[in-house]
Amino acid sequence: MMNRSWYLVCLVCVSLMLVVHHASSQDSNSDSLSESSFSSGLLSTCYYLGVPYLHSEVWDVHECMTCTCTNGTISCAIETCSSRKYGIFCVEPVRPPGDCCYICPYDVTVRKVKPTIQSNVTTNGHTTLVLAVDVIFRYTSSTTGVIGESLWQLSAWIAPVNPTHSHTIGYTEQVLNDDQASQSYIEGDQFIFRDVVYPFVAPTFNCDEAKVCVELKRGRNAVTTRPFRFSSYPQSSTPLIGCISLCAGRK
Ligand SMILES: *[C@@H]1O[C@H](CO)[C@@H](O)[C@H](O)[C@H]1NC(C)=O
Ligand SMILES: *[C@@H]1O[C@H](CO)[C@@H](O)[C@H](O)[C@H]1NC(C)=O
Repeated sequence: MMNRSWYLVCLVCVSLMLVVHHASSQDSNSDSLSESSFSSGLLSTCYYLGVPYLHSEVWDVHECMTCTCTNGTISCAIETCSSRKYGIFCVEPVRPPGDCCYICPYDVTVRKVKPTIQSNVTTNGHTTLVLAVDVIFRYTSSTTGVIGESLWQLSAWIAPVNPTHSHTIGYTEQVLNDDQASQSYIEGDQFIFRDVVYPFVAPTFNCDEAKVCVELKRGRNAVTTRPFRFSSYPQSSTPLIGCISLCAGRK
């Protein structure tokens, strides 16, 4: 959380402590004066709850309050959490360890994954399909968008139209490149992976005998600033798989 808003607040209790400190520090200061030769001159120590802090020292009182010592004067900044910025009105806000404010975790729910074939080039049995994959998300009060890196994994394979005849071939666990895998989703916006390149090797077959399938998953090593929840609706795995006949690529 880099861009937090800090409000400088001088606390009454701190001021009181300072009065006490000043009264008691006069004598000790004159002692240390002769021994210490700070180039910055004479700078007073602060005491907070009996603990001494040097000039320019900064310490956390708790997650939401940080204090600074400036030549014997303590000033404290209290962090305020704006609900607009941190979205604390979600269903299950979380407070990351050490943080002051509650935040909403990223929570995306996929309703449908719909591949289309942009192009299909075959040379010597090597086929390269270029796919566009529409992802339809569920949109509720608890769902959000997601921003981060390695967010998505898209697997692809070729499946026979009639499953009793043959097996799936060309299973590839991740067909997204780094940019595609890190594509952020802004809630409510259209979300499409474009130009997804899926190469595979297959024996010759007619396009009406097979379909290409993709399955969307949460990236295994997703990097996000908030916890990232990923699910499908309904909660079976079916919405995460989408298939399209290989004939669909025919122009
Ligand atoms: C620090 O505080 C002492 C005592 O209040 C004062 O005499 C001194 O001038 C201050 N030093 C600086 C650099 O402000
Ligand atoms: C796409 O490639 C597959 C595999 O080589 C082939 O069987 C199919 O006929 C091709 N589809 C089109 C529309 O060209």
